[in-house]
Amino acid sequence: MSALYENAASHLFQNGFLDLEVDPTMDLVAAINKLKKEKNAVILAHYYQESEIQDVADYIGDSLGLSQKAASTDADIIVFAGVHFMAETAKMLSPHKKVLLPDLKAGCSLADSCPPHLFRKFKEKYPDHLVVSYINCTAELKTLTDICCTSTNAVQIIESIPKDQPIIFAPDKNLGAYLQKKTGREMVIWNGACMVHEIFSIEKITKLRQRHPNAKFIAHPECEAHILDIADYIGSTTGLLKYTISDSATEYIVATEAGILHQMQKSSPHKTFIPAPPNNHCACNDCPHMKRNTMEKLWLCMEYELPEITLEDWVIEQGRASIDRMLEVSAKAGLIG
Ligand code: 13P
Ligand code: SF4
Repeated sequence: MSALYENAASHLFQNGFLDLEVDPTMDLVAAINKLKKEKNAVILAHYYQESEIQDVADYIGDSLGLSQKAASTDADIIVFAGVHFMAETAKMLSPHKKVLLPDLKAGCSLADSCPPHLFRKFKEKYPDHLVVSYINCTAELKTLTDICCTSTNAVQIIESIPKDQPIIFAPDKNLGAYLQKKTGREMVIWNGACMVHEIFSIEKITKLRQRHPNAKFIAHPECEAHILDIADYIGSTTGLLKYTISDSATEYIVATEAGILHQMQKSSPHKTFIPAPPNNHCACNDCPHMKRNTMEKLWLCMEYELPEITLEDWVIEQGRASIDRMLEVSAKAGLIG
């Protein structure tokens, strides 16, 4: 092992990411593109990433699209510009590939809201229930899950389950409540939530709508019910993006993480997109986990091939089936994220 690599690894274990100095004059886009070719690496980025990361990615998508790509890529290295549970999912789907995450501390409040040891106890109370988990959960939670879903396919996943089969839905109580309403299925719902989607301010949104009477209000189903109740359209990040492309309005107030506005604006340059305001001093809503990734960390992780996502064999063996089942139902329904 080279001294430079050892140095990089020790920084990484202390900080969760490589905080080595990056030459500020370096053309990071060119350097990242060069590493992609040299190492046969693919960069998969979620819509909530910084715009410059989205622009250097090979594929940008929602959780379903990213899983579909991770399962089908022939690259040797998957560089995941997203959060930890997404990179874990990629590793489960492509266990023989190297999966890198620019910052290991890029977690998820929703995944953290459902610790597997507590969920195991909860599940024991409902032995005849089938577990549907939103993909925003840890790899270990997936080992306790029968079938995963994302916000793009959640309705179809619930509808694929026989009507007399009771269901536990984890970990997002807001998506769970939305699904109950949409499908008419009663479910036992875990009490978790996403810190980003839980803090939209109904008062500020109402005022914003008064100032922009022609704007449509569109929202992600991770938002609370009182926010969804006033939405003109509810959908996953891909759903929201597609809606703004096909819909005839020219102004939208968007209630989800503000990173998605980059692709909306690129796809419809003549339209106006306004981030829905949260209940704090900020004008838009950034996910602090998603935003831990930077261009510098992306380059460092590709250069040193660290931090790498590793999972124990039993986690891959017991967790993967829940993702495979989700991908099968999505393929049958013709859903692409
Ligand atoms: P989707 O992109 O699948 O809609 O998920 C949103 C999200 O919160 C990801 O963390
Ligand atoms: Fe998790 Fe919410 Fe951030 Fe998505 S936006 S990664 S659900 S904390």
